[in-house]
Amino acid sequence: MATPALPLIIDDEAEEPISDQALFFPHSETSPEVYPLGFFLDRIICGDTLEVMRSMPGESIDLIVTSPPYNLRNSTGNGMKDGRGGKWANASLIEGYASHSDCMDHDEYAQWQRECLTEMLRLIKSDGAIFYNHKWRVQAGRLQDRQDIVGGFPIRQIIIWKRKGGINFNRGYFLPTYEVVYLIAKPGFRLAPKASRHGDIWEFTQEMNNPHPAPFPLDLIDRIVSSTIARIVLDPFAGSGTTAVAARTLGRHFIGIDISPEYCEMAVNRLNDLEGNSLMSPQNAGKLVGIYTGTRKGEGKASVESAELIVDHGLRGDSHAGRDPNRQVSLFAAETLRELQREGFQVSAEQLSANLLTENIELDSLKSGTRLRIGGSIIEIVEARKPCRAITRIDNRLPKRLYGQCGLMARIVKGGAVRAGDCVTVLVDERQKNLFEYNRAV
Ligand SMILES: C[S@@+](CC[C@H](N)C(=O)[O-])C[C@H]1O[C@@H](n2cnc3c(N)ncnc32)[C@H](O)[C@@H]1O
Repeated sequence: MATPALPLIIDDEAEEPISDQALFFPHSETSPEVYPLGFFLDRIICGDTLEVMRSMPGESIDLIVTSPPYNLRNSTGNGMKDGRGGKWANASLIEGYASHSDCMDHDEYAQWQRECLTEMLRLIKSDGAIFYNHKWRVQAGRLQDRQDIVGGFPIRQIIIWKRKGGINFNRGYFLPTYEVVYLIAKPGFRLAPKASRHGDIWEFTQEMNNPHPAPFPLDLIDRIVSSTIARIVLDPFAGSGTTAVAARTLGRHFIGIDISPEYCEMAVNRLNDLEGNSLMSPQNAGKLVGIYTGTRKGEGKASVESAELIVDHGLRGDSHAGRDPNRQVSLFAAETLRELQREGFQVSAEQLSANLLTENIELDSLKSGTRLRIGGSIIEIVEARKPCRAITRIDNRLPKRLYGQCGLMARIVKGGAVRAGDCVTVLVDERQKNLFEYNRAV
């Protein structure tokens, strides 16, 4: 598959191979603080999935695709339980995962998975969905259909993933040849145009050439991601990073979480090997796509190629500069503008009356206090931008997903010239550096 060009650019001060991107998320006994989504975006995070997910902002993810550990070693049969072998002698999961035994008490396992699903549901937007892959199995002569995990969640559909062949020959029942993918969705979720025609029985051969003991077939995840219009895709049990690879290949943002440093390394290596990934910055690189200034408050602004940001003031010559210390410069996301235009609203960047139009930064997820580097300058987010007149006029007709996306106000911390095309980077402050330790030696 060819890799489409992404609007990502190299941050030349921080150019490092993507393999340095597995962020180690230290275990914490206290309840975790929530960090802006930008810190997780396009990264593989090595840590406990519940702890990491609890540190992510709610309603920030479009799509979750995941396959948890199946707890296969908690088995009434002997082979998987004690590794004596029999028909499972060559099964790759006979020893569990590198950092997870896959042998929890059944009730404890079901409870853990319910907590994970609850967290996933918190993370997806009102039009988001979770594709949760699991396997039904027979234990002590009774079908374990995983209702104790998924019961009560908003299951919209069960997709059958028909695998080629199986190894679980047992005279008590016919050879199992499928796994299930639960589509758990919030009310606003819709498939991409024409995706519905795939039907609900999918046939994909299991992955053969992946050293991870239980990888997804890439084609299965490609089918799921390309069947949605999701921009941000999370896999909370990322393993070898198949979901991240599929998302990246399809031009979407990804976040992968896995507890095993070994598998995280596999995932970043796979991402590294993708054609064109040298364009990927290790930071959350975005781009400044437009600069706008105007001398009269409340009116539209004119596009300029470059301008000067002045410390504790704003953009030189702009009507907002030097008035309110918290509102020196305003930012707006190009993605939101494009969505507005796609919805049919006649609005241009100039009419929005914002100063800086950014691309590839989850602007509205940034907390106040977050700093952004733009070219050589640094600005600090202060507060959300109140709807400008152009937006207020169309507010009532706005699709729900765009509510509250009117951009941000910031103050200038370090001045300098900014140009259209400059790199925009979310900076990690000292407090956050402690959390996101770049420690590959764990
Ligand atoms: C079925 S595998 C996922 C494989 C993945 N879909 C792929 O394509 O490679 C489940 C993964 O969950 C991870 N895991 C187990 N417990 C975890 C935890 N508490 N937090 C994060 N990851 C965990 C395991 O390390 C394993 O890689």
